[in-house]
Amino acid sequence: MEDRIREQWERNAEAFSSLIDGKGTPHHSKILNPCVERLLGDVMNKKLLDAGCGEGYLARYYAMKGANVTAIDVSQQLIRTSKRLSEQEGVKIEHRVDNICQMNTIPDNAFDIIISNLVLLNVPCLDNAMKEFHRVLKIGGVLVFSIVHPAFNFYGPGSWEMGEKNPDTNRRVGLYFKVDRYFEEEEYEHYWKNKQGERFPEPIIFFHRTLSTYFNSITRAGFHLIEFAEPQPIDNDEFFDRERRIPFFAVFKVMKSE
Ligand SMILES: C[S@@+](CC[C@H](N)C(=O)[O-])C[C@H]1O[C@@H](n2cnc3c(N)ncnc32)[C@H](O)[C@@H]1O
Repeated sequence: MEDRIREQWERNAEAFSSLIDGKGTPHHSKILNPCVERLLGDVMNKKLLDAGCGEGYLARYYAMKGANVTAIDVSQQLIRTSKRLSEQEGVKIEHRVDNICQMNTIPDNAFDIIISNLVLLNVPCLDNAMKEFHRVLKIGGVLVFSIVHPAFNFYGPGSWEMGEKNPDTNRRVGLYFKVDRYFEEEEYEHYWKNKQGERFPEPIIFFHRTLSTYFNSITRAGFHLIEFAEPQPIDNDEFFDRERRIPFFAVFKVMKSE
């Protein structure tokens, strides 16, 4: 399973990097990233691990804010891209190919902060990853991780019931969101599309889990919850009319207190 996931990310690496385009999509910049940044707090001179960094735009952002950043990803291709982009921008980041299910290159008690942005919903090993995050954090260190909100995730059985297209935004109006089969924890595949609407070369595997599963995994690993957030769009852009009605992302801040 883990090999299959890694191979999919290798084959999707170029399409994914081009979609992220060094800055993330509008959903990232207008909804998720401001919330993650608030939860991370001041990163100046902190040892920060970006776990599942992708093409590395968040690693670069927090390195530019003064953090001492290590970026890991299971995909060699994405680590190569992240390294190239950080060198191009003159940002110092330590890069490693590693797997969050078992981080062989990371010693115990090494980091003040871990960010794992939109990664845990792509791994089969939630409990192991959580325990690994706990192992590599210093006491008092924090983990901030985000997922697509599992109650309102339209890649799975839930979906928007759509009305007519709004000519101003070119998006169809959402009538209501249908939540279905929330309790059925399962794996599913979804093809992402590039900005031109073409499919990525490979589907991406997602693991649907309930919110209870995430909270219980946090506790089992020994973390304490500091904050749970369901971020809303930061402005009144009409484009986000649907995202103002239900949460698109869920973000957790937890601490290793012993
Ligand atoms: C949706 S992307 C998010 C990337 C980045 N955090 C961001 O916000 O742009 C998921 C990332 O997780 C990585 N990934 C998947 N499974 C992983 C694992 N077991 N260990 C480390 N990284 C993994 C993928 O290669 C991919 O880069």
